[in-house]
Amino acid sequence: MTHKHYYVTTPIYYVNDSPHIGHAYTTIAADVTARYQRLRGADVKFLTGTDEHGQKVDKAAQTAGVAPQAFTDEVSQRFRTLVKDPLKTDGGENLLNSSNTDFIRTTEERHKAAATELWKRMEANGDIYLDSYAGWYAVRDEAFYQESELVEKGGQKVAPSGAPVEWVTEESYFFRLSAYGEKLLKFYEANPDFVYPQSRLNEVKSFVKGGLKDLSISRTTFNWGVPVPDAPEHVMYVWVDALTNYLTSTGFPATDGEYKNFWVDEAQPDAVRGNAIHLVGKDILRFHAVYWPAFLMSAKLPVPKQIVAHGWWTIEGEKMSKSLGNVLSPKDMIELAGGIDSLRYFMMKAMPFGNDGDFSKGRMIEMVNADLANKVGNLAQRVLSMIQKNCEGKVPAYNPAQLTEEDQMFINEFLVTHPQTPEEVDALYASFDFVGILSSIVDIAVAANEYIDRQKPWSLKDNPARRDAVLYVLAEGIRCIAVYLQPFIPQSAAKLLDLLGVENTPEARDFASTYHFDFAENNALNAHALKSGAVLPAPAPVFPRLEAESEAA
Ligand code: MSP
Repeated sequence: MTHKHYYVTTPIYYVNDSPHIGHAYTTIAADVTARYQRLRGADVKFLTGTDEHGQKVDKAAQTAGVAPQAFTDEVSQRFRTLVKDPLKTDGGENLLNSSNTDFIRTTEERHKAAATELWKRMEANGDIYLDSYAGWYAVRDEAFYQESELVEKGGQKVAPSGAPVEWVTEESYFFRLSAYGEKLLKFYEANPDFVYPQSRLNEVKSFVKGGLKDLSISRTTFNWGVPVPDAPEHVMYVWVDALTNYLTSTGFPATDGEYKNFWVDEAQPDAVRGNAIHLVGKDILRFHAVYWPAFLMSAKLPVPKQIVAHGWWTIEGEKMSKSLGNVLSPKDMIELAGGIDSLRYFMMKAMPFGNDGDFSKGRMIEMVNADLANKVGNLAQRVLSMIQKNCEGKVPAYNPAQLTEEDQMFINEFLVTHPQTPEEVDALYASFDFVGILSSIVDIAVAANEYIDRQKPWSLKDNPARRDAVLYVLAEGIRCIAVYLQPFIPQSAAKLLDLLGVENTPEARDFASTYHFDFAENNALNAHALKSGAVLPAPAPVFPRLEAESEAA
């Protein structure tokens, strides 16, 4: 069997900022897709990291009174604690429980080598020339703006993002972006799913149709960056440097190993479009969907498979900002949610991917209680304690002859057809429809709770065979729910599977261990179905109810 290679990335985060829930969101979303792909048998590469060069970080280091390297060494650590730190054998703190396979820092030598090589290839293609730049620059956005793009705010001209701009005049290398307008438009036409959601592609297209100007890609007024080859008084523009991180991690310029498997599309190794999927916030779409493919086309390298743009979180209805003092740290929110899984669940379910959404603490507590504690948790607690009490703590007997039409309906509707066929589930994940996926899983728990209420297993004392059949069907339902929940709430899902006595091996817990098969036809159990008679651990609650914030205070 050939393994499908799946490569997903988050943006690399600027180290001058403290991590907040906006950063956590992209990392969690990428982790959900990475975990799902693994559970479908793919070979997964998942990259995150920190963006450590540029004027913004340089200024932050100056303000802190520290040399930039020492500054970034220290502050990049704040981001490393959120995810798996591949340099630590135990993965480090990993507050988000991320399954990233690499963490890149743009100050690493491997990255400087990749950025230098990319520059040389663009230069060799005739796309880089020296000139002088005079125009507007916003340090906060690390972006150049045209006069026509600026807006008035408080009598001042500012960037469309609201960031202050300064007039910059300096000698600079340019990238011949103007030569790529037509090529990009043709590429978007031929690959309409290059940008997801589709509505965002239209934004990108109209930006390109508006005419592309050559891009200033080096700076001379500070030196915190990757030196330009053969012109060390210039450092590369931070976005040229930063975007290259996705390539660096695959081992580029080496083309054997990960580059071959993850950067290039193994199904079409000669295609323009490669294999990488970049998850980004809507504010940095232009860099990823216009500049990045143009750089790669110039260097004659495959462009990514897809740029996926998500919306922004507001906090209790307001923009998250330092000046409003409402910036929420992942650490505090994990504490409030009573654990990382609840935060992961809320962030994936509360905001349809691509839209903006509001982070309300009250809503998080409500949602976690309603879905996880009251529906899934309650179901598991009810069924597992009935099994403990009535079946000597062993998986009840499975007896197809005992199955009634109602059981069959429950099984068909929810275990066989409800989370659809594997291809349909793939499509939901490919469209990042986490809200839809989670709703359909919670629906199984709702249906199971209704099924218990109708079957009343507690009243079947005189008919233990029937009671066991009902409890077996329910336990299988919970097993499937737990398998499906793994990408989103890995720790709690694993606890549920442990409570059901499911072996902790990839085969026993991957998506193929559930019922996408013809169960209805012959009542045949999946090879990984619960083994009747197996001794179960004592039931324990997996999803404790959270108190509302005022009560908790
Ligand atoms: N360093 C660049 C990315 C380079 S990628 C080659 C950068 N860094 S950032 O730290 O400023 O932002 C990282 C990500 O955080 C962006 O995708 C941005 O959209 C996201 N978010 C910042 N605030 C956010 C919210 N309030 N909500 C959701 N995402 C938010 O840009």
